[in-house]
Amino acid sequence: MPHVYVRDISKHEGQQVTIKGWLDNRASKGKLHFLQVRDGTGTIQAVMFKPDFDEETFKRADHLPQESAIAVTGVVKKEPRSQLGYELQAQGLEVIAEAAPDYPLGHKEHGVAFLMDHRHLWLRSSRQRVILSVRHTIIKAIRDYFDDRGFTLVDAPIFTPAACEGTSTLFEVPYFDMGKAFLTQSGQLYGEAAAMAVGKAYVFGPTFRAEKSKTRRHLTEFWMVEPEVAFMDLDGDMDLAEDFLCHIVQTVLAKHRDELVKILERDVSALERVQKPFPRITYTEAIERIQKARPETPITWGDDIGGDEETILANQFDRPVMVHRYPTAMKAFYFKQDPNDPNVALGVDVLAPEGYGEIIGGGQREESYDALIERIDQHGLPREAFSWYLDLRRFGSVPHAGFGLGVERTVAWICGLHHVRETIPFARMIERLTP
Ligand code: 4AD
Ligand code: MG
Repeated sequence: MPHVYVRDISKHEGQQVTIKGWLDNRASKGKLHFLQVRDGTGTIQAVMFKPDFDEETFKRADHLPQESAIAVTGVVKKEPRSQLGYELQAQGLEVIAEAAPDYPLGHKEHGVAFLMDHRHLWLRSSRQRVILSVRHTIIKAIRDYFDDRGFTLVDAPIFTPAACEGTSTLFEVPYFDMGKAFLTQSGQLYGEAAAMAVGKAYVFGPTFRAEKSKTRRHLTEFWMVEPEVAFMDLDGDMDLAEDFLCHIVQTVLAKHRDELVKILERDVSALERVQKPFPRITYTEAIERIQKARPETPITWGDDIGGDEETILANQFDRPVMVHRYPTAMKAFYFKQDPNDPNVALGVDVLAPEGYGEIIGGGQREESYDALIERIDQHGLPREAFSWYLDLRRFGSVPHAGFGLGVERTVAWICGLHHVRETIPFARMIERLTP
């Protein structure tokens, strides 16, 4: 019999087919067994009618533990009462692997810690399957967006000799006779080298931060995509970020609207409002807005805009908001200072709506050799480690800009998830290294 997937079942109405999958649930009513078979693309009910089976098979079916791997052969029938619209009138059952009887994730409520400990099995739930597949769509939308616009994908190394985003969040790794290496915090510096070679580059890979933050937005290992463009300024960078985010959201809506609504219970109207142009406010204006909205806890110019403050700001808009020109002192060494006001750097953060926080950070880079070396010294960074990076400013340095988008925060926002731990197959956090 042809092996078909539940996703394609409507094309096989009236035909005899085989579904291969795992037993999600079962029930019995006299001469009938109802098996819920999950195959990774959906779940179908297979109905076994006693007279169609030998006694042993019919009896075994009633004792199969959850997650047993089975192949069911039968005829595809229309069934308007099922969510799928079809069921399988079973004629044959093959048990490929009977599961152990103690599947830990039965059909009841479980606490998050327990679920995270069993993440390797939790992935089988319909909710996690939808999240995995939205994540996949987002990653493909990211790649398509840049590939279709003349960008070249350039892979940056994961072992690096120095910090890019501050020395306090580096993971150290012993590295032969050379002492220690660090896991990359960002591929940006390599992206800049690539942009001078190909014009428009993007780096896409895992990045690492030894951040002690135990928030719902922080992972120690996360995926970041970082476009970098020669001859682009901060305004161009914001135009790119805005167009890019609209593309991602529209692609997900076109493909997953139904699953977002039915399985993740996402309010998609909030996603439909993600249209250009996004509001653009300066850091200074952002601080004024926070002061006005929350007079009881003062915040002053120069303070960090933390998670709570980001939510206050985001709630004032119905789409992502771009906050630009942060105090120079708060920002990494590579940012260009605003020529009109050296106290602020030409950086931008994009804050997602509904309290999901910063999803993009980026800006225009310092292209002057002298200014850059001064910044490296001010930040107490080792000049030798950056000599190659300084070369980019010696041989045809041009204005350039880029940004980094965190995949997991984007998945959390689009899927409407409370915590980033559910957005990546196997989360790495300050207190989690398994499974
Ligand atoms: O703002 P960040 O630190 O920017 C950079 O790393 C730049 N070098 C990017 C660039 O300009 N090429 O990080 C960028 C994004 C954040 O906006 C956030 O979405 C995500 O990366 N991010 C994290 N996601 C999960 N867990 C963490 N600990 C994250 N830290 C940053
Ligand atoms: Mg940032």
